[in-house]
Amino acid sequence: MDTLSRFKPVALEHASRLINHGPTILVTSSDGTRHNVMAAAWSMPVEFTPPRIAVVIDKKTFTRELIHASGTFGISVPGAAAMDLAFAVGSVSGRDADKFTQFGIDSVKGPVLGVPVLETGIAAWMECKLIPEKHTEDAYDTCFCEVVSAAADPRIFSGGHWVFDDSNRDLHTIHHLGAGNFALASDAVKARMLAG
Ligand SMILES: Cc1cc2nc3c(=O)[nH]c(=O)nc-3n(C[C@H](O)[C@H](O)[C@H](O)COP(=O)(O)O)c2cc1C
Repeated sequence: MDTLSRFKPVALEHASRLINHGPTILVTSSDGTRHNVMAAAWSMPVEFTPPRIAVVIDKKTFTRELIHASGTFGISVPGAAAMDLAFAVGSVSGRDADKFTQFGIDSVKGPVLGVPVLETGIAAWMECKLIPEKHTEDAYDTCFCEVVSAAADPRIFSGGHWVFDDSNRDLHTIHHLGAGNFALASDAVKARMLAG
């Protein structure tokens, strides 16, 4: 693992914005000995303060096993530069091979929980504490968590807001359309308040 780099802390009250627009995320996990990373397209914020998130993580995944062992996980939000990587780590299981070695992935340790998070080709990351909810985990594979630290690359997220423009296209978040096809979050527009 590397040391933290150019990423800047994101205020926890803004953490929900990192996945509010539905990007594919990378879920990182470790039980202290083994570590892993998988892709997840199904996640959403469920509370602003404290910031809470729900992620669907299939019970058959190696990720679920490590999250249950540690009670923690990381969420990294890949940019376009990490699209191939996101598809790769979502297509094989860490039970069969160490994906960090297999795909040459660097990670850094989160400052609060020490969970591995990614920064290369990544727009933002969060450290998360599992909120155990046996029913939703068993019935719907939905894991709730509280975000305890967050950071983002200031070239694409600063002052609590995403800034998508031509200069940072490599970090535009990726949105899974199915079967390895993605759309980039690119054309940001602002809604006008309609007079009602
Ligand atoms: C783009 C993409 C999105 C995915 N989204 C999810 C998801 O939301 N939830 C899930 O359980 N699996 C999802 N998967 C599948 C897992 O990433 C896949 O089963 C992975 O191999 C599990 O890895 P592991 O066994 O090492 O934990 C997705 C795969 C891809 C490629």
